[in-house]
This record gives sequence, structure tokens and C-alpha cells, in this order.
Amino acid sequence: MTKNIELLNWVESIAKLCQPESVHWCTGSEEEFDDLTSLLIEKGTFIKLNEKKRPNSFYSRSDPSDVARVEDRTFICSKKKEDAGPTNNWEDQKIMKEILLNKFNGSMRGRTMYVIPFSMGPLGSNISQIGVEITDSPYVVCNMKIMTRIGKEVLDVLGNGEFVHCLHSVGMPLVDNLKDVPWPCCEEKYIVHFPEERSIWSFGSGYGGNALLGKKCFALRIASCMAKDEGWLAEHMLIVGITSPEGIKKYIAAAFPSACGKTNLAMLTPTIPGWKVETVGDDIAWLKIGDDGRLYAINPEAGFFGVVPGTSMDTNPNAIMSMQKNTIFTNVALTPDKDVWWEGFTLKKPEKLVDWLGKEWTAESHTKAAHPNSRFTSPASQCPVIDPAWEDPKAVPISAILFGGRRSEVVPLVYQAFNWQHGVFLGAIVSSETTAAAEGKVGKLRHDPFAMLPFCGYNMGDYFSHWINIGKSADEKKLPKIFYVNWFRKDSHGKFIWPGYGENIRVLKWIHQRTDNENSVVETPIGFLPDESSIDVSGLEIQKEKLKQVLSINNREWLREVKEIRDYFKIFGNRLPKEFIVELNSLEEKLGKNY
Ligand code: OXD
Ligand code: MN
Repeated sequence: MTKNIELLNWVESIAKLCQPESVHWCTGSEEEFDDLTSLLIEKGTFIKLNEKKRPNSFYSRSDPSDVARVEDRTFICSKKKEDAGPTNNWEDQKIMKEILLNKFNGSMRGRTMYVIPFSMGPLGSNISQIGVEITDSPYVVCNMKIMTRIGKEVLDVLGNGEFVHCLHSVGMPLVDNLKDVPWPCCEEKYIVHFPEERSIWSFGSGYGGNALLGKKCFALRIASCMAKDEGWLAEHMLIVGITSPEGIKKYIAAAFPSACGKTNLAMLTPTIPGWKVETVGDDIAWLKIGDDGRLYAINPEAGFFGVVPGTSMDTNPNAIMSMQKNTIFTNVALTPDKDVWWEGFTLKKPEKLVDWLGKEWTAESHTKAAHPNSRFTSPASQCPVIDPAWEDPKAVPISAILFGGRRSEVVPLVYQAFNWQHGVFLGAIVSSETTAAAEGKVGKLRHDPFAMLPFCGYNMGDYFSHWINIGKSADEKKLPKIFYVNWFRKDSHGKFIWPGYGENIRVLKWIHQRTDNENSVVETPIGFLPDESSIDVSGLEIQKEKLKQVLSINNREWLREVKEIRDYFKIFGNRLPKEFIVELNSLEEKLGKNY
């Protein structure tokens, strides 16, 4: 156990508030995991999957009302409203604390309260951070064991040090003879962050980023505030190592909004001979300038919590192999022999399934068998192409940063920023069609700066300035080059033009070469585009004019884009860096000249 007074006092005070039946300090042992999975099977939350096909793996269905992150119920309660900024929900700290104290009062009655000490990042690394999650959900404990490093060793490293306070309750106390259900949750949800206190209070949801508090709440929202104060970056980025046939290895970090292919890019199987891709992380990167002036990154997580629909041996074999054992599946479909299935897993639909709602499903059914935001939780170590340095506390040096989103129109396959400041501007103008990862309409174009719209823990205008300042304080020559990519451009028939998935290595190859200023480019108003002949399309069937289409820009469309961005930027008022106005004016002027 711990002698950390702050932790002991906090646990005691939360137990007093939430009134659980018992308190369990998680050790992180395999034995404990087995006990919890047995308990979850007993409760009906887990179904054990076919041990022969998928050892030590479990199937789970959420409540149909609790299937994604709830952005409209997510709050950044900074002391001052303007510090949360125009892109976050804000409430007065005192008012919110009162609401929460009320909600959490007795919220764990009849349940066990679990205390999970966890480390984001390799244990003991000086980039890593420690949190403690208190939760009344054993499902959360099992997921946290896979997604982070948990248990006794974390308490040893913590000693008397500071930690992020993460409080979670599903919000369904077992009172008045209320019978428990497989997926307890509460209609009214609160996912609340107090950035100055470095604390998180999450109530009412058991799903993903709402409940596994190490992920979005800590490693992005709270960590982005720490990063701003301490001069580093906490980003919604995958990290991948790419080695050329000549053996030159470069690491790339890439920010795309949720469910836009980060896991696929992180584990890509190259289609051109001699190239190798290795995974460091698929969702979050913490980046710091090293002693040599280069930008270094770690993956603070220890597992993948990836979207499953669309994942197959064709699209992402490494993800499929990562989930072969020791995996928790949530909201996919169950096969008669107790294995899993989802849309896109196999070309031929199975004859019969039980769908994510627990209903009989046949190949003729018109509904989806798996929820579009169904997930797998697997240890990162199981990824066949996990990078040898993925847990290296020294972190990996980043040569390129990519931004991108789902854009069926306007945005070309790839282009390179002129310099750091322009690159930061490109991060700020990311917009993307919405996906099922968050509650709300799917397919609606929205601004998602740096893919951080739902995850930035402070005023996004200040976040932009922080990025610009990182560039100013560093030697730009040593910083990563910045690129913008779009795999999702469609033709006039609504079909994707670029094949994507493993073929994206062709774009990564161009980027790899550009980090050494190799390969020819065309200077355009928006940035450097590849000369058509510089994208390796050997062995790929793509019509010349299609390639031309994805590598071209239309000035009129871009002038419209500029107008729209200028309007959007107004929400940041005087917190918008003046450098962005310089970039916008310059872009508009260049587009106007070429028009
Ligand atoms: C995620 C998300 O779960 O971005 O990674 O929603
Ligand atoms: Mn994500």
C-alpha cells in the first residue's frame, strides 16, 4: 500500500462521499484481472469468447444509450471562462462542484469502489505522469489494465509525489432493491475537468473516453494544460516508424480526428517492396524538445482502444493480429461459436449472429450487426509490428508531423507546409466530416483544429500560440517538417479516388524523402504539392487523371475555404495569434493572383 497522505486522504474522502460497499486497491496482477473478469461474467457484462479461437478475451455490450464520447456533456471548468475558450463547454467551478458533489453523493452504494493507480508512459520515465482513477466499474478496471500501466509498481514510483485525481462513477447506486444490470449507467452524464486542480470528475457513462480517464480526459485534456505550462505538447496523434529500403528510419506523428484511420496508419502494411512500418502509438503522443533540439515523442498509453468496423485482414492485418488474444470487445456482434464479427471483417456476411443490441441477426438483416463505434481493447505489445522503441523512456525523434481529416472535396492527397508557422496554421485549419466516435450526426463537416477540438483542455487560441511559440523557441531546422494529408477525396460518383490503407505508404514514402528535402515539388498557394511523377505509383492501378485530380487544387474552392476559415477564426477573438492572419492574407493573395 501507499504512504502518500494526499492519496490516502482523497480515497477516504471519496469513499465517504460515494458510500461504496467496499474499497479495493488494484494491484494490477493477473490474478486480480481473472477475478474481475469472472465477476463481470457473473454480472452478465462479459461473455467469455471461444478460448480456442481467442484466448483470454471477452465480449461486452453497452447500454444502447451509452455508445460514444458525449462532447456536449464534457466540460472544462477553468477558473475563468475565457481560459476554457470558445470551443469548450464551461461552467463556474463552484456551481459545477456543487452539482457533482450532489451527483456523487451515495453514487456507489451497493458497489465496490476500485482505486487504480496508473502511469501514463513507461513507469519511471521522466516524461511519464501518474494518475489515480477511482471507479465503481470493474469493466473500467479491466480496460485500464490494458490501456495503461496499473498497480503496485505505480504506487512505488509515486511515493509521496503528486498525481492527477480521476474520479468516475457509472451513476447507478444499488439502492431500494434496484437490481444491477450488465451495463450500469445514468442518463445524465458529466465529464468534467478542473484544469488548475488537475482533476477529473466523470459521472454517468461507462464507455471509452468518458470512463477510461487516463485516455482523453488525462492524456489529452489535462495533459494539454500541463504541457502548455511546462513547454511541451500533448496531442491526438499516432506515432509510427518508417524505414526505407536503404535502412533509413524516420518517425512520423500524425493528428487525425477520431475514427479517421489513425490505427490503420499506425499499423500500415506497406504495398511497395522494401518499406517497413512499425507502430509506437495509435492515438496519443506527448512531445518534448530534447537536449539536441529535436522534437521527441512518447506514446503515453499501453494499449489500443480502436474502432473495429472496417478492420480486416485486407485493411489492417496487424490490428486483427493484435486482437487475437487478451482482448475486450465492446459492441461488436457475437457469432454462434462465441467469436466476434463486425461489418467489413469478412466479405461474406455470417448467416447468423447476435448483434450489438443482443438481438438475433441474419445475413438478410438491414441493420448493422456491430455499432459503428464498436471497439477492441488490446495490449499494444501484441501488435506484430510494435516498434522496438515503443516503451523507450528516451522517446523517439520525430521527423514529420501530419495533419488531416475526412474531406471528400477541396483538399489534395498531400501537401507540405512552407515552414513551421505555416504548418501550425495547417493544423489549425483541419476540418473533417464527423464520425460515430462522438454522439451526434455523422458526416457533417466541422472544424477540428489539430484534431483536438474535443480534447484541448484550455483556450484553443492560446493552444495555437503555444504551438507557434514552440517553433520560436527552437531551432526550426531541427523541428519536424509539417504536412497535410487527405485520404478521403471522392470523385463525382461519390467514390474514394485514392485506395488508402496499405497504399498510403506511397504518400509516406514521399514524406520520408521530403524530410531530407528530396524529391520534386510544385509550389502552390497552399503549400508544396508533389510533382505528379514523385509519388511512387508502381504496381498501382490508378488512372493518370485520377492521380492528377487528387494532387491538384482548385483556386476558386480554396478562396471559398479561406473565407470560411476567416469567419471561423473570429470565434477566437483576440486570442487568435496574429500570425494566422498573416498566413490567411498571404494564402488569399496567392490564390487571388493565380485565379
Ligand atoms: C478515441 C476517440 O477513442 O478519439 O480515440 O474517440
Ligand atoms: Mn482518439
